[in-house]
Amino acid sequence: MEYNMLKKKSHAEIARQAAAEGCVLLKNEKDTLPLKENEKIAVFGRIQFDYYKSGTGSGGLVNTRYVVGILDALKEEKLILNHNLMEEYQCWLKEHPFDKGAGWAREPWSQQEMELTDEQVDDAAKESDKALVIIGRTAGEDRDATATDGSYLLTQTEEDMLQKVCGRFRYTAVILNVGNIIDMKWVSKYQPSAVLYAWQGGQEGGHGVADVLMGRVNPCGKLTDTIAKDISDYPSTENFGGEFSDIYAEDIYVGYRYFETFAKDKVLYPFGFGLSYTKFGMDEVSCERVGKETTLKVVVTNIGKCSGKEVVQVYVNPPQGKLGKPVRNLVAFAKTKELQPGQKQELILKVWDADIASYDDSGHTGHKSCFVLEAGEYELYLGTDVRSATKAGNFVLDELIVVEECQEAAAPMHSFKRVKAVASKEGIFNKGWEDVPVRTYSMREAIQNEVLPEAIYTGNKGYKLADVYDNSVSMEDFLAQISDESLCHLVKGEGMCSFKATPGTAAAFGGITEELKTFGIPCGCCADGPSGIRLDSGGKAFSLPNGTCLACSFNETLQEELYEMEGAELKRNKIDTLLGPGMNIHRNPLNGRNFEYFSEDPYLTGKIAAAQLRGMNKYGVSGTIKHFAANNQEKNRRLYDSILSERALREIYLRGYRMAIDEGDAHSIMTTYGAVNGVWTAGNYDLLTTILRTEWGYDGMVMTDWHTAINEEGGEATRENLAAMVRAQNDIYMVVPDALSYGDNLEKSVEEGVLSREALVRCASNICNMLMKSLTMDRMLGRVVEKEEENIEADDDISDADILYYEMTDEIVLSGKELSTEKGTSVVYGLDMKKRGPCSLKMRVRVDAEELAQISVSVFMNGILTGTAFVSGRDKEWTEIEIPLRDVYFPNNFIRLYFAQSGVQIDWLKITVK
Ligand code: BGC
Repeated sequence: MEYNMLKKKSHAEIARQAAAEGCVLLKNEKDTLPLKENEKIAVFGRIQFDYYKSGTGSGGLVNTRYVVGILDALKEEKLILNHNLMEEYQCWLKEHPFDKGAGWAREPWSQQEMELTDEQVDDAAKESDKALVIIGRTAGEDRDATATDGSYLLTQTEEDMLQKVCGRFRYTAVILNVGNIIDMKWVSKYQPSAVLYAWQGGQEGGHGVADVLMGRVNPCGKLTDTIAKDISDYPSTENFGGEFSDIYAEDIYVGYRYFETFAKDKVLYPFGFGLSYTKFGMDEVSCERVGKETTLKVVVTNIGKCSGKEVVQVYVNPPQGKLGKPVRNLVAFAKTKELQPGQKQELILKVWDADIASYDDSGHTGHKSCFVLEAGEYELYLGTDVRSATKAGNFVLDELIVVEECQEAAAPMHSFKRVKAVASKEGIFNKGWEDVPVRTYSMREAIQNEVLPEAIYTGNKGYKLADVYDNSVSMEDFLAQISDESLCHLVKGEGMCSFKATPGTAAAFGGITEELKTFGIPCGCCADGPSGIRLDSGGKAFSLPNGTCLACSFNETLQEELYEMEGAELKRNKIDTLLGPGMNIHRNPLNGRNFEYFSEDPYLTGKIAAAQLRGMNKYGVSGTIKHFAANNQEKNRRLYDSILSERALREIYLRGYRMAIDEGDAHSIMTTYGAVNGVWTAGNYDLLTTILRTEWGYDGMVMTDWHTAINEEGGEATRENLAAMVRAQNDIYMVVPDALSYGDNLEKSVEEGVLSREALVRCASNICNMLMKSLTMDRMLGRVVEKEEENIEADDDISDADILYYEMTDEIVLSGKELSTEKGTSVVYGLDMKKRGPCSLKMRVRVDAEELAQISVSVFMNGILTGTAFVSGRDKEWTEIEIPLRDVYFPNNFIRLYFAQSGVQIDWLKITVK
């Protein structure tokens, strides 16, 4: 198979465009923006020097060659920057360096800000015309944000800064370099003249922001979340952050679906909102329904003075019927091309019945477990945000239409009250409550009663997976050759940083044992994700804007183009699937990982994810959509249970995934750490078999999240219960150090007859299907035509590291006690070796970090990566690890240890030449 190498534009150019198109302009008075050439600008806020390219945790660990922050980019512009102020910050920063926090993903949400004196601000205002204030927040895995100062709220020092600067400057633009949305009460309090959400824009983020500030890119990003007046206004806030469970009482009324129906007055900035430097008109609106499809047309005209793009959004207001529904639901959107002043473009937006349908989990419509369109009027609204969209047409259904018949699945075990819209006489909706329907059958029994096609064992007949790939042998006959024992190995992935896959990646899977390799099963490789490749080997990769920023572009074409680049990079690094897109719903602004995800809206989420997958697919690689499903809280993420109605699950939390599969050909999925309605997702038969496979027809692979626990209905969740995982069709457990010796319950369960060979074969078939769609298969068969020499070695840049010199003959033991092993640092030994021969390195290490911390140490010898050792937060005791080095031929050798994360302690290291 031949894949065309790029490129029309460079990676950096597209990433920069994406960072710019993700910027959302919320306010722009007095023509504050764009800035003009030679304007005198004072930049406030330490984040000008400490730009957040992304959040923390697995989704934020891309080693980049460079990062352009906002100030770096402004320095490239024809602006007169206030150097005195800059110097004051630089001086202060020497005493107040960036706090990286202790441990894995433990960086504080914000950094201490410099306290400005009145004099400093006065001086700056005398010298400069306009002020830019940059405020930053990180976001991240394993912890949620909190509605406290320095997290969701501004700190007192940040407020003081805003008060002083806005009070003194006529023009102040506030730029938010944040992962998640934050509280915005300060806008009305201090009245800055402009406000721009710039998110975390990846390594080209600063350039993207500068393009917007200078007007080279006209802001065209739109909010993917509603910004409410107060955190308590979000309907999920009341229950969010529970220790062991979280009840989704707001049901389908998430984000704007809630606010537009019940609480319009609580909104500061509506979903879909974002300003431009120009103005657009919308005319010649038409709406026509043919069969199951409604088509809206609109002509968008740039009626302003500069060129720009606009996003047109279509919302449906369905009849309330018996189920009750939000009064606005996004059902289509489109972005114009760059329109010059006076230029027009006709946009055609298609709305499908399936995208409007509601799921009846109660049977109130007489069609329990079906997606239906209830009878009545469907109004279609068209506009540039959810609030200002106006009626563009309608259609009326005389009777209910059943769009899809499903089967009750994953319903809650116990009832609780959920929100329901109740109309008053005046047609206003009030929040009412109704009982949520509960599970009426046993998931355990469903598993027990399942009849799978018989899977016999024939022993080795000489068939290879390539024979299935080439259609000369059936999958059934192929898998019949593999013993139960080997199938038990196949359903485990090895990592992190397995030597069997690209160094420094998250897992190797598939052909990971000698036995499995004899059947021609290739070894697959996956790496984090989502916004760039995480190579813990110290290898470099390109860091893209965070998920929310990307989704704010509302630009599917751009996402596809950007992730085509990502696909090329994955292919070059021999990685088959990126662990992303992350596509959980922004149920509450405090969820720590919202920065990786796209939106509070499932339709937008599905569209953006599908576009990114299509982009990667062009290079024969793909993404692993995660975390399936309802992974909406980081606190206690391995223990907590999302309790929600089947309707909310299907309409809100699963919908994007289905779109990513149907429209993006996703063939790899990651489940979550937690449970949905009492059953951990990694063993949730209803989610993974009934819905995903049977209803949606998905035939790809499902993997667990790293070191997760699994249970069966009513049982306790453990990390060993892989039998429950296999029965549910979660195909691979991620990750184990060695598939041959992980202490799980698989083989015992087969022996005892509680796990069938049939169930193992079914997972094996899903894994093989995925591998056959991956480049690793073609690569193994020598069918990938590489058009350019692709270098997968990591950079070994030791120029700025101090080198420790020693002489040695057979062996040298060095103390590691004094070594700095902080994230991103290296230690380099220059060794004068008196002996030639094979050489190896042993280290005595232990970890001082949280249990789930993922820590790697990569070793380079003379610039070549020789191995990456992986330790986790569970390695609390001193343990010895060994990494092979290269043979010694010459006396002078450099050995570099690179620490991708903080937290490892080294007692000693021993280098031996045999
Ligand atoms: C995260 C996943 C990630 C995996 C591998 C987990 O902690 O939840 O999203 O892909 O680690 O790094």
